[in-house]
Amino acid sequence: MDTKVWQISSDELNGPGTLEKLGEIKTALTYGEVVGLPTETVYGLAGDATNPEAIQKIFNAKGRPQDNPLIVHIHSIEQLKKFAEIPDERVLKLMEKFWPGPISFILPLKNDYIAAKTVADLRSVAVRMPSHPVGLKILEYTGIPLAAPSANISGKPSPTDYSHVIDDLKDKVYGVVASDPADYGIESTVLDCTTFPYRIARPGEITKEDLENVIDGQVAVHSDDMKKPISPGMKYKHYAPRQPLILIEGSVLSQTLISKKGENFGVIAPESFRQDVSDDVEFVSLCQKDDDYREAAKNLYGALRKMDKSDVDIIYIYRFRENPRSEALLNRIYKATGNVLIKGAHDID
Ligand code: TXA
Ligand code: MG
Repeated sequence: MDTKVWQISSDELNGPGTLEKLGEIKTALTYGEVVGLPTETVYGLAGDATNPEAIQKIFNAKGRPQDNPLIVHIHSIEQLKKFAEIPDERVLKLMEKFWPGPISFILPLKNDYIAAKTVADLRSVAVRMPSHPVGLKILEYTGIPLAAPSANISGKPSPTDYSHVIDDLKDKVYGVVASDPADYGIESTVLDCTTFPYRIARPGEITKEDLENVIDGQVAVHSDDMKKPISPGMKYKHYAPRQPLILIEGSVLSQTLISKKGENFGVIAPESFRQDVSDDVEFVSLCQKDDDYREAAKNLYGALRKMDKSDVDIIYIYRFRENPRSEALLNRIYKATGNVLIKGAHDID
């Protein structure tokens, strides 16, 4: 299949030619094709959530296990009410506060409007209203609820730029919308609202504290070592480049790198560590300031992809400090490393 590419940047959304492109995208989705499109978290691979054939194409293109349900993207709360329950006023309050934006809510299903394959035969559905102007416009223009997992081959880092989608899915999908890079760079917070207290199934930009402030009550957090993963996707290894990726404490990063001289390694770290590596080392900077978690999250997957393409044999990645604002970033880094950590004498915790 010759993958079509539609260029639509946010600032040309009202420009000449855009309407024609939106029309083509709508036709493709209506006929059950799948299309890569931008969101503010990561690029998604979208198909009509009510059409099992479209959903099968998503699973096939990604090589995704069928028992891992997809997030359904919508443009309005009215649209959501066609197929899902809002169990409580507090959930509505959270939606009104954070939508459109980087959070998905797991809700009870009302009927069988959404294809069973989309939700992997569960009686619940994860729903999200994205804020990316182009992604949201496509949802409004088509009126179709769009199932969209991240638009990467399963197990690879999620795509934060359209070029990543092309790298992974060219000739496997009908089309890709080439737009601006993702603003956040890691996937949405997933909040399970089918139980109370609500439970964070996947950490993201919107934190436990952010949620608790709105509902004025406690929010639980799912921990990875619980026996049964709440989000089926959390049990799979994720986001990994092909080489071993080793987490390394900041205090020993410089010495360790000096001792590895001569080996063919890469380093992913804040800009301040660039001075410690020699010119022949592949260095990818995550952020200008060591504690800029937002910038680091935005650049993480691109950095992992760059290393994956390079010829380095092993990658060292800086361990950011643990605090509420770095939680989602650390969660993705830990998953990518498989938890191999080099600690310094002063870093035992
Ligand atoms: O930011 C995002 O959420 C991106 C963009 C494209 O919107 N999408 C995304 O989708 O990350 P995906 O499929 O890569 O991750 C969806 C996660 C998986 O861990 C899946 O298991 C979980 O949400 N999930 C989806 N529906 C669920 C349900 N009904 N119950 C429990 N977990 C669910
Ligand atoms: Mg994904």
